[in-house]
Amino acid sequence: MGLTIGIDVGGTKIAAGVVGTDGKIGARTHRDTPANSVDDTAAAICDAAAELIAKHEVEAVGIGAAGFVSSDRSTVLFAPNLAWRDEPLGARVAEVLKVPVVVENDANAAAWGEFAFGAARHVEHMVCITVGTGIGGGVVIGGALLRGANGVAAELGHMRVVPGGHRCGCGARGCIEQYASGSALVREGREQAESGSLAAAQMLSVCGISDPAELTGPMITKAAAGGDPCAVELLDDLGRWLGEGLASIATLFDPDTIVIGGGVSAAKDLLLKSATVAFEKNLPAKANRPHPTFGLAELGNDAGLIGAADLARRPAPVPEKQR
Ligand code: BGC
Ligand code: NA
Ligand code: ZN
Repeated sequence: MGLTIGIDVGGTKIAAGVVGTDGKIGARTHRDTPANSVDDTAAAICDAAAELIAKHEVEAVGIGAAGFVSSDRSTVLFAPNLAWRDEPLGARVAEVLKVPVVVENDANAAAWGEFAFGAARHVEHMVCITVGTGIGGGVVIGGALLRGANGVAAELGHMRVVPGGHRCGCGARGCIEQYASGSALVREGREQAESGSLAAAQMLSVCGISDPAELTGPMITKAAAGGDPCAVELLDDLGRWLGEGLASIATLFDPDTIVIGGGVSAAKDLLLKSATVAFEKNLPAKANRPHPTFGLAELGNDAGLIGAADLARRPAPVPEKQR
């Protein structure tokens, strides 16, 4: 197979690109993500892909979607932070585009992208965690993407870290997504500003806003990069949650490499440092076992797009017993 299209459906932007077998992106395009309408979202995905298909010979389309995707890689069963409920996204898009379409969980796609072409390309066992609006997870073991019995592994963002903690979009309480995601970062920042903290007021003024409701994740990241103490502390906290969570995740999967991706990973060293410290400190049996390598996604925000495109050229995995 030659070229395929990868599409990453984010909270604000739908990014699409034509990808070669070497994982390199040729042409790109994007659309704004329509708010709250699954129909408009499907239409925008089709529109972006059609623009690329008109100019390039492509054999399949891979879509990374921020939700639980069926094992036949076609239906979005549920999305904690989006309106998809049993949404037959793959079939809808394939009907319009007349090419094969594969839907994969966005973080699984990002993990695959980093495994095939990025930070984990030299290893066989890796875990990827994506930190954005939500927290996504992808696990590759022995070179195979872990999908579970129903296609919905690995939802690392919904691992419980605080019994009885904050309510999550998945319906449970205390998921790590409520403590270490971009949304959690903003919630904490706003809360501090609303409580009248002087440090938070300083942060708002650095961000050029006065209303806490206007605060966004990228604003906090930028303020932190400029050394604002409140923003630095917010990212530090996020990194600590992440590192502690990853210590538990490492006990499950014993990966060679752990890759942190997603929008919040733009905070780079600020995040990586506190995550690494918390990870090293909390890894069970830390003094008596090899530690995985820790790193940021090398493909950055393109990991999901590239991974989805590469997965689209691969047939669904056949379980070992049936081979
Ligand atoms: C969803 C995942 C998704 C992640 C990142 C989580 O809330 O449950 O399916 O991968 O957000 O988008
Ligand atoms: Na996943
Ligand atoms: Zn949850």
